[in-house]
Amino acid sequence: AGALACAGACLAFDLQGHRGARGLRPENTLPAFAHALELGVDTLELDIGVTLDGVVVVSHDPFLNPAITRDASGQWLPAGRGPLIRSLTLAQLQAHDVGRIQPGTAYAKTFETQQPVDGTRVPTLAQVFELAKTRGATRVRFNIETKISPGQPDDTLAPEALTQALLKAIRNAGVGARVTIQSFDWRTLQLVQKLEPAIPTVYLTVQSTSNDNTRDAAWTAGFRLAEHGSVPRMVKAAGGTAWSPNAGALTEALVAEAHALGLRVIPWTVNDPALMDRLIGWGVDGLITDYPDRLREVMARR
Ligand code: G3P
Ligand code: CA
Repeated sequence: AGALACAGACLAFDLQGHRGARGLRPENTLPAFAHALELGVDTLELDIGVTLDGVVVVSHDPFLNPAITRDASGQWLPAGRGPLIRSLTLAQLQAHDVGRIQPGTAYAKTFETQQPVDGTRVPTLAQVFELAKTRGATRVRFNIETKISPGQPDDTLAPEALTQALLKAIRNAGVGARVTIQSFDWRTLQLVQKLEPAIPTVYLTVQSTSNDNTRDAAWTAGFRLAEHGSVPRMVKAAGGTAWSPNAGALTEALVAEAHALGLRVIPWTVNDPALMDRLIGWGVDGLITDYPDRLREVMARR
């Protein structure tokens, strides 16, 4: 997408399509990734889980989310949490349709811009890699998030097993050079650095000036903000290549501090054009957005 700003090695600005292009197509699905490629993203952002039969699949939630899931007979799943991904085989998982948001839900209101694609299934990670290949997107990158909630350890595989399954899927597809692995669960990133040091790790945070132990799982990996003095310094100490902060908790000074440490800064999830413009002005190295079309427009205007 062009070099608007850069840090350290002066890499190009990284336009990342969040869950593909969630504002425009059903999240984390092949239609969303295909559309993001059409819009010219540099990176496909996605989340992963592992099925009962050990297949790495693309899903934000560790369970089937009733707001976006219909069963094989077309009925919306009952409200609450659907079955855990890890309790279903790939065949059972892919019997569900995730191509539309349930009307009347808050999620439908937030993303009324999303165009449904009925008949869409939860894809495997391998299918996403294959899609990019068949579309000729041989340079697109994949920013893959290991979804683990430290507070709900039974929802997913444990960090080690999840990380091993992901690294195997990446090796099988031969895309290691085009992958970054991101997580709020810093344990998985520490494992990636040990097992596959060539893959850059991206440290996600919700708060930028305090630890939020419910989601910023730095603490589970043994990192304490108080010991490091700032979140960028904690990311650096952890061995990260990049820091992905919550855009709402970021400041220009923190961007500068992270850059001084040699970290790339790629905030999530930025959908407002005015905020996109401001963050680019602060020198961020990329943005994660549900609307790659809006970000391209903002970048074109600069
Ligand atoms: O890339 C970070 C961003 O995706 C984190 O938020 O909840 O959409 O995975 P979430
Ligand atoms: Ca994510």
